[in-house]
Formats: sequence, C-alpha cells, structure tokens
Amino acid sequence: MPDDAVVPSDDADTASALAAINSPLDLLHKWWLHDHHGKGTTVLYHRDAKMQLAWNNAILRGRGLELGFGFGTSLWWLASRFAGITIDALDVSPLFGKLIPYLRGLMGDRLGDIWIGDARAIGKPDSTYDWINSSSVFEHLPEESYWSVLRECYRLLKPGGALGVFVDQAPGREHGRVVLPDQTQRELESIGFKAIHERLFFKPQEAENQEPPFAYGPAWYDQTWRDSLRGLNGPYLKQQTGDPAEYWRRDTECLNDAGISPDHDILDLGCGGGFLVGLLDKEFGARRVTGIDFSCEAIDFCKRTYPWATFREGDVSAVPLPDASFDRVLLFDLTEHLPPAVYEGVLREAYRLLRPFGVIVVPPGQTDLPQHLNLLPLARVEEDVRKAGFVCAQRSDWVIGIRMPLGG
Ligand SMILES: C[S@@+](CC[C@H](N)C(=O)[O-])C[C@H]1O[C@@H](n2cnc3c(N)ncnc32)[C@H](O)[C@@H]1O
Repeated sequence: MPDDAVVPSDDADTASALAAINSPLDLLHKWWLHDHHGKGTTVLYHRDAKMQLAWNNAILRGRGLELGFGFGTSLWWLASRFAGITIDALDVSPLFGKLIPYLRGLMGDRLGDIWIGDARAIGKPDSTYDWINSSSVFEHLPEESYWSVLRECYRLLKPGGALGVFVDQAPGREHGRVVLPDQTQRELESIGFKAIHERLFFKPQEAENQEPPFAYGPAWYDQTWRDSLRGLNGPYLKQQTGDPAEYWRRDTECLNDAGISPDHDILDLGCGGGFLVGLLDKEFGARRVTGIDFSCEAIDFCKRTYPWATFREGDVSAVPLPDASFDRVLLFDLTEHLPPAVYEGVLREAYRLLRPFGVIVVPPGQTDLPQHLNLLPLARVEEDVRKAGFVCAQRSDWVIGIRMPLGG
C-alpha cells in the first residue's frame, strides 16, 4: 500500500483490545461502553451520542454501508435501531477481521457483505447504497485518502441517499484531520453533496442540484420537502438550519413548559415533516395529534410515518375545524415563515380552536433565511399573542399563552 494508506495508526492498542475479546459478551461490552481503541473509556462517546440522535430522527431503509466498522459499535446500534435494513461493512484493518464471525452470529441477515478492504476503492457498483454511516473514520484519514473516500461515498450512494459523517473532534496522535463541522460541510458540498445539517448529507438527484428560488407558497415548500425527505427518508427539513439534538432539547423543554399530557388533543400548525409529532410520542406519550401544513409532500410523508395521528393539507390561517377542539396549539418555527396577514390569521385561529384554559406555544425561528420573511423579536411576538386574546408570558426562546374562559 502507498504511504497514504488508510491504516489505523494505533494498531498496537487495537490488537491488545481485540486480544481481550473472547466471546460475544466481551464484544457487547465494547459496543456499549465503547472502549475506544482499548483505552478503557466507559461513557458513550459524545460523538456516538450525536450519531444516534441524528440517525434516530431518520427512517433508514434498504441497504446501507458502515464505513470502517472497527469494534462494530455503530454497526450494531444501526442494526438494532432499524428493522428490515441490511448493512454492508468494511474496515481496512485486518485486526478487526477477527470480529467478523461474532458480528455475523449476532446480526444474522441484517449484516450483508462484510470485508477487510480499502475505502478508497470499494468494489461495489455505482448507486449501491441508500445510506452510508461513518463514525470516527474521516478524522483518521490523510488528506488524499479523505478526498478519495468521500468521492467513493458519493459514487456508491443512490441519488437521494444519505451520508452521516461523525468525527471525533478531540485532537490526537491518530486524528490527523480534525476540522470544524462547517469546513466539513463546505468540503462535502464541493463534491456535490447537499447538507441536511452539519453531520448529515445527501446526494441530490441531478435535477435537484439547483435550489429553487424562494417564493412563498406551497410549491416552494413542496420542492424543499421533496429534497429533504428523499435525502434522508426522514423528518428533516427543520434540521437543515441547525442541530437536531439542539432542536430536540429546545422543543422538549418548550413542550414541558406547555404541560403536555397524553390525554391532550394537540394541534400542530405548520407540522412540516412531523418532527414534533415524533417527539410528542417519544417524550410525552401524546398521540392525539392533528397536524396541518399546506405542503402536500409534507402531509403525505407524515401520513405514512405517523399513522396514529391525523393530518390535513391546508392553510394555517383558515382551519376547517370546530371552535374549542384542542387543549394545546403548537406554532413551532412557523411564524417567521408567514406573511403578515397569514400570521395574524393563525393567531386568531389558535384562539378560536383552543378550549378554555388551553395553551398556545410559539417558539419562532430567528435564523436569517430567504423563507424567514417575518422575523420578529420575541417581545413583538408576545405582544401579538396577547392582542389575539391570550394571557401570556415570554420565556428565553418562546412565548406561551393561555386562553382564559372569559377572554384575556
Ligand atoms: C420550518 S417548518 C416547521 C415544521 C414544524 N413545525 C417543526 O417544528 O418541525 C415550517 C412549515 O410551515 C409550513 N407553512 C408555511 N406557511 C403555511 C401556511 N400558510 N399554511 C400551512 N402551512 C404553512 C411549511 O410548509 C413548512 O412545513
């Protein structure tokens, strides 16, 4: 192999860690405590947690590739998380070949082809994979190998397929290429990927390489949702402008503040790809949810993905449902998207649709993007929610209001 070969630089450590693996139980221990390179770390790596959160918000299907399977941590997690997927796996180090029989035994037919080989030249045809995961791989690669491996990923992904790039950001002897996520993003974009967020990317369809210019209306959102949902086959539009883990944290905090309970009837206005519908189910056990969005792509996706909830295609400023139908109305990352008349209309509708003592929650996005045509300071949103009739309070990132029985 040339000098630039993709070989782990701490093979001695890896060998001693592998020598200690004599049973699948030892291996499981490695997986869950992720005894990284045999150094005895007993916490879930920050990077692994990020990976799990990122993919957790996706719906992975079809055939995937685990690039650099190592001890098999991510491989096993992905196989356990998603039913019905098949994962191929490769690693450059022959030492990890010792694990292959264990991995086969544990993963059965969820493990496809597994082999020891060089990620710069993967012997599979173009467009083989629906998704590719790499955890703790790219920071190990010398410059030239890095670009070759990225190009291989691009070649191997089906158009619309997703690539996860999770790197250990700690500087270290074996981490020759630790770069900030926004640089990674620029580099991946330079070879044709589109960012879903800073760690997840997708290979666009040819025709999708052109961003449609923003024009307010369902057509633009349909196009954007099509890109986003095809890219990951999961609820991801919102995370294009930030970190899914951070959204999950903020939205959970916000919903806690709204006192969500499983017996509430909840209206999710501008539900998009249903990020909140998933979160309400997972964190609050709340499934009596109705989602409304004017994008038919988003609504079709939601109907397939969250069969327990009700979805309608329609405008949030004219909701064809009776007065006092809901206990909670959610306007998450919505108001900044709305022209002024629609914005006023949606606040009026929220008031009409809530039962007495029902609660409205409005966390407005603050990022400067073309589609954010109505960026307002939180104090202004609070004033508008109050004007719509609510008794309200302002938190650090959102406004919460109560519909009092006799008006505010
Ligand atoms: C950033 S997404 C927010 C998605 C979701 N609320 C969340 O928190 O994940 C904004 C959504 O508002 C929808 N939207 C914008 N104007 C709308 C309108 N007048 N009626 C219905 N939906 C609208 C868009 O289609 C898009 O899905």
